[in-house]
Amino acid sequence: MSQSGALTGLIRRGGAPPLVLVLFPMLVAVLWLLMPAPLASAHAYLLASTPPDGYAVPTSPAEVSLDFDQAVTIAASPLTLTGTTGKPYQLGPATLSLGGRRLSTKVITRLADGGYRIHWQVTANDGDVVGGTVTFAVGTGFTVGVSDTRGASSLDSPIVIVARWMLFTGLALALGGVVGEQLARRILREVGAAGATRSPPAPPAAQPASQPTAPPALVVVGAGLGAAAAAVLSVDQVGVDLGRLITTGPGRLLGIELTAFAIAAALARATGRDAGRGPRRLVRLVGPPLLVVVLLVVVAAEGLRAHPHADSPIWGTALTVTHLLAVAVWVGALAHVLRVAHRWRGRAGWIRLLVYDYARIAVILVALVIITGSLEALLVLPNPASLIDTTYGLVLLAKITLVAGIVLFAVLARRRLWHSARAPATSPVGRAVRAEATGLVGVLAVTAVLVSAAPPGPATAELAAPPSPDGPLVPAGTLAGTITVIAAASAGQLVLRMTAPGRDDLGSDNTSSDNTSAEQTETRPANYQLAAQWSAPGAAPAPLTLRGCGAGCFTSPMTWRTGTNQLHLSIAAPPWPTGTATLDIPWPPRTDPTLLPNVLTAMRAIPRVTVHQAVTSDYHGYPGNETALPFAGPDFLATEPYSSGGGNPVILNRTPGEIELGLAFPSGIAIRLFVAPDYRILREEATTPNHLITSTFEYPPTHR
Ligand code: HEM
Repeated sequence: MSQSGALTGLIRRGGAPPLVLVLFPMLVAVLWLLMPAPLASAHAYLLASTPPDGYAVPTSPAEVSLDFDQAVTIAASPLTLTGTTGKPYQLGPATLSLGGRRLSTKVITRLADGGYRIHWQVTANDGDVVGGTVTFAVGTGFTVGVSDTRGASSLDSPIVIVARWMLFTGLALALGGVVGEQLARRILREVGAAGATRSPPAPPAAQPASQPTAPPALVVVGAGLGAAAAAVLSVDQVGVDLGRLITTGPGRLLGIELTAFAIAAALARATGRDAGRGPRRLVRLVGPPLLVVVLLVVVAAEGLRAHPHADSPIWGTALTVTHLLAVAVWVGALAHVLRVAHRWRGRAGWIRLLVYDYARIAVILVALVIITGSLEALLVLPNPASLIDTTYGLVLLAKITLVAGIVLFAVLARRRLWHSARAPATSPVGRAVRAEATGLVGVLAVTAVLVSAAPPGPATAELAAPPSPDGPLVPAGTLAGTITVIAAASAGQLVLRMTAPGRDDLGSDNTSSDNTSAEQTETRPANYQLAAQWSAPGAAPAPLTLRGCGAGCFTSPMTWRTGTNQLHLSIAAPPWPTGTATLDIPWPPRTDPTLLPNVLTAMRAIPRVTVHQAVTSDYHGYPGNETALPFAGPDFLATEPYSSGGGNPVILNRTPGEIELGLAFPSGIAIRLFVAPDYRILREEATTPNHLITSTFEYPPTHR
């Protein structure tokens, strides 16, 4: 019989596959529908936080918010805040916004100056509970090292890892056990049949050929183990809120696996009982195919849960399903063969036939496992370097090394099999095959670690919206040629937002909105390319580490220097010509709540002022032609967005003759006011979408 003949023969005898072939694709399709759509990455990655990780903020934050690369769900313990001594601080209830990508909460108590840690935990798209720590300080006198736990902690808890190992082992014992059982029964039928095609040594006379090969205890144990593992994973996933087994995608998959394993365990028990008559005989007949179908549900659910699904919903799932099926049969059938060989000890001929049949299937399985595993690895790893510089890559490397050793043992086991055929006194089951089986269980353990590790992260993933600033914010803005650019500098971070002519990429303040892009006037994002450098007195110029945060939005972590920091920007947004700009960021910003009210009071008292105003929409250093506009003070104020306060004013600079004030407004308006000691406005620079407006104020001599 050819190898494929052996397989199809085996399959035909089992009676299950025609049903399986029809049902399996349907099962995957149904489970697929139950799942939420996968995102670019199944594991959740923390992209930004407020307060920023590793930075000091000047005042106690009112809110804590974390931005992820994908929609997350709130885990059992989403956010906790502790001081460096471990003292807990009260937080409000955790809420999700920006389509589930921002997790925030209010800080209830005012935090004194000092160091703090935010421990976070969320459930990722792949059902993994991901957690980590963000470290920050309150008060300018404190420095914080950037914590190396930024982003997700790279491994799940040991309980989850052990449960996954149990689940894989249980699935292999159950599914592979059914196949192994069929193999053994087939040998018994052959040696018992008068016209057996092969010639094993005669079974002892007292041995009826129909004697069960081995009770399907391995199948029962395997399904039970799988059910226990799925139960542990479910509790870890949903806690006491059992409703989440239905309402969340990962919960649903675990619920399905738990149910399938439980049904499989019951079926395996019922199938193992003596045939008898009536219903019992029926159960024994339909039991194995049904068992296979039920266990395939688990395989399909795993295919949808594993990391490759997120990278490619179709190929990733197909690869995991094939990989897992081949793995389960390879490992489980081997365990069953070893068990049966033990029961058949003294009948080397029977055992040889059994091992021979198994070895023929195993060749195909090993090839399938290696090919599909390698393709899965190629799918999940973004580049070869991630094999050695990420936890996921290193675990995968350990797995591949282990598998190479096992394949060596499998080759040795085959050689022993051929040797035993020529020297019948030699047992066909030697140490090599036992080492192969033990090694495979070891690979399952390493795989449990692998699937619990965060796959290499999306280095360029964009934020759904700009991170919210913490503490006073230094606004700055200008036109880089025709491109309007607005900077918001705050402790530990910089947000640069820009818009090209005819667009409204500064138009919506989407930080508090759930709808990030729908409000844009044009849905097709402009292709903004930004090169940015930072310089400050006494520091070598350095390029900024930019990350996208929506249309025309870039953010970078910053360590501001005291004094005037400068941002040198080069912005391209085809078809517009590339524009350059330099923005001054005086640091640190100071606040004085009396300043803007004093300015408003002084300006309202002015009967006459001439505002020399230049407006440009294409700035290359020349602000445009001036127009002289006469106003009464109150009339001028009525044209300004700060006329009734607001704008979160900060003092950018103060000299004996002038105070420089920065104001920022939503929808992309940044204003700098230069104010005299008597609070009259001397100059104003306003950047609004597509316009730079510079104004100089001339007061009649009596008011000088
Ligand atoms: C060259 C050999 C192999 C490679 C490259 C490989 C690679 C992989 C990869 C990349 C995954 C996806 C893990 C994820 O979800 O992130 C995977 C899953 C898995 N592999 Fe392998 N593998 C190999 C051999 C094996 C062997 C020999 C076994 C068993 C003894 C095995 C058992 C598994 C299991 C149980 C899964 C989990 C599927 C699931 O998530 O349910 N693999 N493998």
